[in-house]
Amino acid sequence: TDGHRYTVDLIAGDGIGAEVVPAATRVVDALAQRHDFQVVWRERDWGSAYFFEHGRMMPVDGTEQLADADAILLGAVGHPDLPDHETLWGLLIPIRREFLQYVNLRPVRVLPGVVSPLREVSDLDIVVVRENVEGEYSAIGGRAYRGSAEEFAVQEAVFTRTGISRVARYAAQLAASRGGSLTSATKSNGIIHSMPFWDEVVSSVVAEFEGVRLRSVLIDALAAALVLRPADFDVIVASNLFGDVLSDLTAALAGSIGIAPSANINPPRDYPSMFEPIHGSAPDIAGKGIANPVGQLWSASLMLDHLSEGAAAADLMSAVEDVMAAGTRTADLGGSARTEEFTDAVLRSISTQS
Ligand code: NAI
Ligand code: MG
Repeated sequence: TDGHRYTVDLIAGDGIGAEVVPAATRVVDALAQRHDFQVVWRERDWGSAYFFEHGRMMPVDGTEQLADADAILLGAVGHPDLPDHETLWGLLIPIRREFLQYVNLRPVRVLPGVVSPLREVSDLDIVVVRENVEGEYSAIGGRAYRGSAEEFAVQEAVFTRTGISRVARYAAQLAASRGGSLTSATKSNGIIHSMPFWDEVVSSVVAEFEGVRLRSVLIDALAAALVLRPADFDVIVASNLFGDVLSDLTAALAGSIGIAPSANINPPRDYPSMFEPIHGSAPDIAGKGIANPVGQLWSASLMLDHLSEGAAAADLMSAVEDVMAAGTRTADLGGSARTEEFTDAVLRSISTQS
């Protein structure tokens, strides 16, 4: 092949991660052949099994091992016998933070053949741009007087001009490429220091973008409006916590958590970006071969876009849409296709693309 060669770290992780990640590598390899590029997969056996053996989710120098990759494709982490903060802070959060993946991109669409829990929703097409490395999810704070009546907890939120500006700029650029509608989630009526600061910085950054219309909407009203009038929204920029909540809400509107993808992006490309479905390790269905691979496949499509293989990324999504439109669906969407059958159908669709 004369095309590009990419090194991608593969962290299947726990539970259904081990079932949906192989679906993605099969499909990406097929696309690579047709689009004349090559992916060298570096498989990492990190996650809960690694924890039970070594007492940590990944090696001490885990992020150093990943640093020269072109991208990271992740399944999910989480095990019923481990506390969730252990799995999250032991692997996902260090990767997001050390690689300054300050944009968490979560696109949502209603794919063919999927029925939204809302009536008459088919034109839902939203991207939530969540701030991913600061804000409400900080380790600053503490607890005191444990167990006593005086016990208390303090949890500090951290908002910086740099942090707000860069995520706002990314969201404004994205909005400019999609028709110019940008909504900022705020709560400046109730949170009186950080949120007015968020509003000021977002609006000054967006002012640099001609043709982008900014609306700031209070998070509570925004949650209601997303349920009542989802078609009114396109790109939404939000802080770490607000973006987390909103993107699960919008993912639910799209019909199944098994579909929704996400990208943790370092826009300057100083470090690798990481692509993962938003669902977890789903221990209730793990090992049965019935997980929906679409969230993982769509995440792989976002990865191909990031690697500048846009044609392959688009072919991946059109194959998934073809298969869904033809009625092949996994159990979470009321179908009976197994993970492998669905993936085989996607591969067949790719092989017939012109
Ligand atoms: P979950 O997303 O794993 O599962 C929620 C429900 O959705 C379950 O009934 C599951 O069967 C179903 N589901 C999820 N993905 C599916 C798919 N692809 N196909 C079909 N059905 C699917 O969330 P839950 O149960 O809250 O968490 C399980 C574990 O995963 C926990 O340890 C949690 O900490 C972890 N987790 C990890 C995440 C990550 O790695 N980024 C994100 C969310 C949870
Ligand atoms: Mg969430």
